[in-house]
Amino acid sequence: MTYSSDILQLGNPLIREVSVPVGHVLSSEMQDLFSQMLKTVIEQQGMGLAAPQIGVSKRVFVMASHPNKRYPYAPEMAPTIIVNPQIIATSTAKEKGWEGCLTVPSLRGFVPRHTHIDVRYQNMEGEWLEQRFEDFLARIFQHEYDHLDGKVFIDRVDSTHDLMAESEWYERVANG
Ligand code: NI
Repeated sequence: MTYSSDILQLGNPLIREVSVPVGHVLSSEMQDLFSQMLKTVIEQQGMGLAAPQIGVSKRVFVMASHPNKRYPYAPEMAPTIIVNPQIIATSTAKEKGWEGCLTVPSLRGFVPRHTHIDVRYQNMEGEWLEQRFEDFLARIFQHEYDHLDGKVFIDRVDSTHDLMAESEWYERVANG
C-alpha cells in the first residue's frame, strides 16, 4: 500500500504539536483547508484525517467512516468536517479495538477507547452542534481528537504487545 507524501509521517514534529482553535470558520483560508481535507481523506480512503496530518496545526478533523476490507462493519457516513471539537462526557466503559493511521503506516494497534462520548463541535458553516457518538464512530472521534493534542494511537495502547505489523494483522486478525 502506498501513501501520498503529503500526509505527514510520525517523526515530523508537527504531528506532536498541540493545535490551536479555529477562529474564523467561514474564512476562505479555512474553507480551503476543509476542501483539501475532504479531498485527501477520500483519495486516501481514510476513516478520518486531522489537519495536523497535512501540516496545519488547527483544531479540525474529518470523520469519514465507511465499510472496507479492514472494517466491514464500519457505518457509512458522508465525510464530515469537525471544527473546534470538545469532549463533554465519556462512558466509564472502554473497549479495545484495532486502529491504524495514515501517519503511522504499516502498524496496527489494539487501542482502548470510551464506548460512547458526548461532544460539541462546529460544522463547516460555523454552527455549534452537540452529539453522542458510540462504538466505531466514538473510536474515530477519539483517534482524530488525539491528533489535535499531538497524540497518536501508539501512545494509547496498554502494552506494546498490542501493536502488530499490518502484514501480520491482515493474516492473523482480519482474515484469521
Ligand atoms: Ni490517525
